[in-house]
Amino acid sequence: MKRTLLITGGAGFIGSHVVRHFVNKYPDYRIINLDKLTYAGNLANLKDVEDKPNYRFVRLDICDFDAVLKLMQDEMIDGIIHLAAESHVDRSIKDPFTFARTNVMGTLSLLEAARRCWQPQGYVMPVVGGTPSETVSLRSTPPIASDGSLPLTVPRVACVSEGVPPTTGVACRFYHISTDEVYGALEITDPEGVEPPFTTKASSGKHHLAYGTSFFTEDLKYQPHSPYSAAKASSDHFVRAYHDTYGMPTVVTNCSNNYGPYQFPEKLIPLFINNIRHRKPLPVYGKGENVRDWLYVEDHARAIDLIFHEGKIAETYNIGGFNEWKNIELIKVLIATVDRLLGRPEGADLDLITYVTDRAGHDLRYAIDSTKLQRELGWEPSLQFEEGIEKTVRWYLDNQAWMDNVTSGDYQKYYDDMYKNR
Ligand code: NAD
Ligand code: DAU
Repeated sequence: MKRTLLITGGAGFIGSHVVRHFVNKYPDYRIINLDKLTYAGNLANLKDVEDKPNYRFVRLDICDFDAVLKLMQDEMIDGIIHLAAESHVDRSIKDPFTFARTNVMGTLSLLEAARRCWQPQGYVMPVVGGTPSETVSLRSTPPIASDGSLPLTVPRVACVSEGVPPTTGVACRFYHISTDEVYGALEITDPEGVEPPFTTKASSGKHHLAYGTSFFTEDLKYQPHSPYSAAKASSDHFVRAYHDTYGMPTVVTNCSNNYGPYQFPEKLIPLFINNIRHRKPLPVYGKGENVRDWLYVEDHARAIDLIFHEGKIAETYNIGGFNEWKNIELIKVLIATVDRLLGRPEGADLDLITYVTDRAGHDLRYAIDSTKLQRELGWEPSLQFEEGIEKTVRWYLDNQAWMDNVTSGDYQKYYDDMYKNR
């Protein structure tokens, strides 16, 4: 079936994997990547797909409402996967306004543009050149079944481009990508780690621990602590409000920490790999006891594909790695892996570990309960953490030119601002 999807933030870390996944897997879809190209956006992340006939890049700010609306109308967008955001917690502590602008107002701008395009069509867009079907008058309620599922193809008649012969229509969808950080922080009740209540095919045989008995579930109250997570929480509320108020066919997912190729080296894993390689100090916040739940980025892209097509309207799905690590333990794995791949003696770089002043409001533990997605749609991570981290470290070591490029320019200033007097 033909579709025209708008993926926002497609030049960033996760977005580039999502764009690549959709462009390669769905040659019949037109994929439009809308990105402002902030410091975090990098078209080099998409070199391998930039010449594909079903791909187009548009440089735009999601806050530019008029331009977003025009793009949606011109391209007859029928689905949005919204990833564009300011994404780094430390930056949000220094510059909260930028986070509110992009993450809240930018999301609202996209929602409103989508509403103006889609609501008059009953949230069904024509597929020009699709298989002709019977002509049925349709301009009213969105075609959502009572169980919340959304048929992918429906007959249409009234559409934006009058004069186009009747053809098939496609049900619109606004998919908002959010974070587990909106739920706040969990306690560490088991500092040594205990057997977690869930397991997957990808669970590590060596390290499969939970550091507490509570987990983030979809019905938890929002308790964001950083300006980043507060802005993401606000955007989630706007998305749900557009469903409840205007009937917008929305879906929201809240995911745990991603890792993999093309992540900007302000985040823990690429920053530390690069520092270990160059034998620079590794700035560990606080005591390194904070816990994160890590998911390989391509597994997230697979989940997004599945939920975009099969997730229920107005639902929330948590996406997690079933894979908790204390920062300090993870950092030791990174050191061992980099040293081994570079042929350095085992443990040679452990002395790079440098404890620095903690992040303000640092959330203690994130751990996702992703069993709803596992149960309802059959998704789970495919990659064991050991495999994922090996692939990731290899990728950064093999792509030093990519790293040199993103750490030239303003990066050194960012690094000094963030770490020099810490
Ligand atoms: P990123 O910082 O790597 O990429 C963000 C992208 O958005 C960049 O390409 C940037 O140029 C673009 N962008 C920023 N402001 C924009 C604007 N005003 N208009 C248009 N484009 C703009 O982020 P990421 O880590 O890939 O995260 C993507 C999304 O996933 C975010 O919404 C984030 O909240 C969410 N998320 C991230 C993680 C993670 O571990 N990285 C986990 C869960 C959820
Ligand atoms: O949980 C999902 C979130 O994961 C996403 O929504 C965010 O966009 C993403 O940035 C990530 O947030 P974190 O704050 O968990 O990621 P970060 O890589 O910045 O930090 C991971 C952990 O490592 C955290 O406990 C802070 C710590 N850390 C980080 C850096 C950059 C350090 O100890 N030293 C560092 O220099």
